[in-house]
Amino acid sequence: MAIIFLDSVTSTNTYCGRNIDNLKHADIVRARRQSEGRGRKQRIWSSEEGGLYFSLVLKEGLGGIKTLGLLTQIMALAVCKTARRQGVEAYIKWPNDVLSQGRKFCGILSEAIFDGEKLKAVIIGTGVNVSQDKINSEKPSITLRSLGVKKDAEKLLEDIIANFTADFSLLNRAGFEPLRALYKEYFLYLGKPVTMRVFDEELHGIAEDIDEAGRLVLNEGGKRRLIEIGDMDF
Ligand code: BTN
Repeated sequence: MAIIFLDSVTSTNTYCGRNIDNLKHADIVRARRQSEGRGRKQRIWSSEEGGLYFSLVLKEGLGGIKTLGLLTQIMALAVCKTARRQGVEAYIKWPNDVLSQGRKFCGILSEAIFDGEKLKAVIIGTGVNVSQDKINSEKPSITLRSLGVKKDAEKLLEDIIANFTADFSLLNRAGFEPLRALYKEYFLYLGKPVTMRVFDEELHGIAEDIDEAGRLVLNEGGKRRLIEIGDMDF
C-alpha cells in the first residue's frame, strides 16, 4: 500500500481512473486540493485546502462483494467511527453521507473500472470536511474542526483506513450481516419518515430497516420496498 500525496489535482478519482494500471491494491491517492472535485449525480464537490480528499484503489477481494454500494457503505461506517472516536455525534445518511448536527461533513463517490466484462478495480473517493474556511455546497455542511476535532487530516486518514481495512476483510469473509447492527445504530433516519429519490421517482415512507445486503427497507404505507440505489433528501 502506498499513499501518493498530490498538491493539486482535478479529482483524485479521475487521477486513479487514468492511472489505474500503475496503481496497486490498497494504494491511496490524496490531494491537498482538487480543481474539479466530483460528487454523486454530477454534483461539484467543493475541494478547498483544509479538507481531506482521497481515493482508495481496490483490486483484490472484490469477487465476493455483491454490490459497489456495500463498499461505499463500509467507507461511510469507517468515517463515522473515526469521527465518533473524536467525540463527534456522527450519523450516516443511507447510503453513504456522514452528518453531524444535521449537516454533512463527508461524501463518498465509488466508481468501478471494467476490463471488458471483468471488474478490474473499484475506486472509493472520499471527501471529508476537516478545517476549510469555506465550503461551496448546496447542502448544509460542517467541518470536523468546528465540531471540536483537533486531529489533522493525515491522522484522520490513518484511522479511516484502519477502520475500512478491518471491515473490508469482515465483509469479504462474512458479508454485511456482522456490520449491519452498527450501521443501523449510526443510521440517522431509522424508523423515521423520509423522502427518497430513486432514479426518476420520488418516494415517501418510513425508513424501516437496513437489510442483510445493505439495502434500505422503505415502508410506503404498509408496502415494503427494498432500495439498493437512491438518495435521501435532507
Ligand atoms: C458526494 O457526496 O456526492 C460524494 C463526494 C465525493 C468527493 C470525493 S473527494 C475525493 C474524491 N475525488 C472526487 O472528485 N470526488 C471524491
